[in-house]
Amino acid sequence: MSPIHIRAEPGDFAESVLMPGDPRRARYIAETFFERPRLVNEERGMLGYTGEFEGRPVSVQATGMGCPSASIVTEELIMLGAKNLLRVGTCGGYHPEMQLGDLVIATAATPQDGTVLRLTEGLPYAPAAHFEVVHAAYHAAEAAGRKTFLGPVVSSDLFYDTLQEAQKRWSSLGVLAVEMEAAAIFTLAAMRGVRAGCLLTVSDTLHTGEPVRISDEDMKRAVDNMMELALKTLTA
Ligand code: HPA
Repeated sequence: MSPIHIRAEPGDFAESVLMPGDPRRARYIAETFFERPRLVNEERGMLGYTGEFEGRPVSVQATGMGCPSASIVTEELIMLGAKNLLRVGTCGGYHPEMQLGDLVIATAATPQDGTVLRLTEGLPYAPAAHFEVVHAAYHAAEAAGRKTFLGPVVSSDLFYDTLQEAQKRWSSLGVLAVEMEAAAIFTLAAMRGVRAGCLLTVSDTLHTGEPVRISDEDMKRAVDNMMELALKTLTA
């Protein structure tokens, strides 16, 4: 089947693909960290680029926001030959010790969302990151001396969540943070036999009463740090 939303040909994307939510972040990643980046998709503004990192082919493709959008992009990247998928995104921190800019390596993503239920046709399922990706990310973080939070996150289909005490409830289950795409990416990767992982920068802390949001400057610095680890993880 040919992809409809990613207008590219087999061979345009590398087997290893970084997957930010934001198209402008995809462009920033390609222009800042790739050697010889070339634009390979711009359908619907969902920018995708292919280039090299330390001589190895690598791509970046925006997913958009939420599991429905991320599932379309994941399916189509896999159709185009992707084998190693790494979401690089932001999250709301639930863990009481989390600070803005901290790094999370997701080991699993609870689907608080309809997409995964549809994919599994209602079967209860625990979407997990591929061990080799988690292993590579953890060792890249250790080698860089980076403090990391490693553990489960929840993929919600709501950003503006009115659920009372969401942070307390998820925290009491050991869930570190909330984001919106990993569960669908992990599920599709498992279904199609490819590897997926997820690195997140804490952009909001949700354990302090009122949510606190990171500044644009601090976000840029934290994302730059995350990208170095992400590229080391994908090319390990
Ligand atoms: N909720 C869901 N997803 C997010 C958040 C949040 O607070 N922050 C960054 N991604």
